[in-house]
Amino acid sequence: MVDKPLNSAQTDSDRANNSTRSAPVGVFDSGMGGLSVLREIHLLLPHENLIYIADSKHAPYGDRSTQYVQQRSLEIANFLLKKNIKSLVVACNTATALAVDILREQLTIPVIGLEPAIKPGVKMSKTGVIGVLATQRTIESKRLHCLTVKHASHTKVLAQACPGLVEKVEANHLDHYDTRQLIKKYTLPLLEQNADTIILGCTHYPFLQQTISTIVGRDIQIIETGKPVAQQLQRVLHKYKLNNASQKNGNIFFYNSSNINQHSNTMRQLWHNDITIKLLSV
Ligand code: DGL
Repeated sequence: MVDKPLNSAQTDSDRANNSTRSAPVGVFDSGMGGLSVLREIHLLLPHENLIYIADSKHAPYGDRSTQYVQQRSLEIANFLLKKNIKSLVVACNTATALAVDILREQLTIPVIGLEPAIKPGVKMSKTGVIGVLATQRTIESKRLHCLTVKHASHTKVLAQACPGLVEKVEANHLDHYDTRQLIKKYTLPLLEQNADTIILGCTHYPFLQQTISTIVGRDIQIIETGKPVAQQLQRVLHKYKLNNASQKNGNIFFYNSSNINQHSNTMRQLWHNDITIKLLSV
């Protein structure tokens, strides 16, 4: 007779399932902007283990070619797969617009992307005019065009590319004179055209939300996508029975592809915690 395992109630498949469930979720962005998404994920799903990759060395993606962004996204995804992730969150509008399809084609785990919140923006606007702030590549993307056609047929969508803003967040210049000048340049024309809602179509911009709000005024609604992405991740993990059943707080591991000290300092300040950041060598 074969000896029964000590915990006979737990089968091999239960154990395999538990170890998959406790595996980390991978989250990446061209830089530190995706921390605005990571904080919402951590708030909603505190028991999940998370790995965050800031590709600061190669930011901004918004000025790069499609091929470049796809290649970087695949390299980062492969690094995360070696860490055994159970799901991947592309916490970057630009990488979602340019690379989410190829990631979904090549990966066998669920991949969650994000996109500018056109649909909620249309619902919230009273003037029927909304502004979208995003990187050049997101603004030009087919994805944004399709979203606009689908959800905003009766709303005027003013799509504003914002070169330079990602760099301001990467440098932690959230309220500097130059940053405010750039924000004025990008937002005031939207207000002149009667926009009452501004969509932050780049995950770096929530870190500028306070500065944007003081410039455009408190009456203008500002929408970001961190929370809906966290909710989508929660739905997906439940659907595939991948949610971590542990009641302990999850661990978060941080990587940055840039070894410049300033990036680590900025990352700590944006995360509001004294975190350890490893160098990403891919
Ligand atoms: N956080 C990225 C996004 O959401 C910024 C892209 C970039 O690096 O240009 O689009």
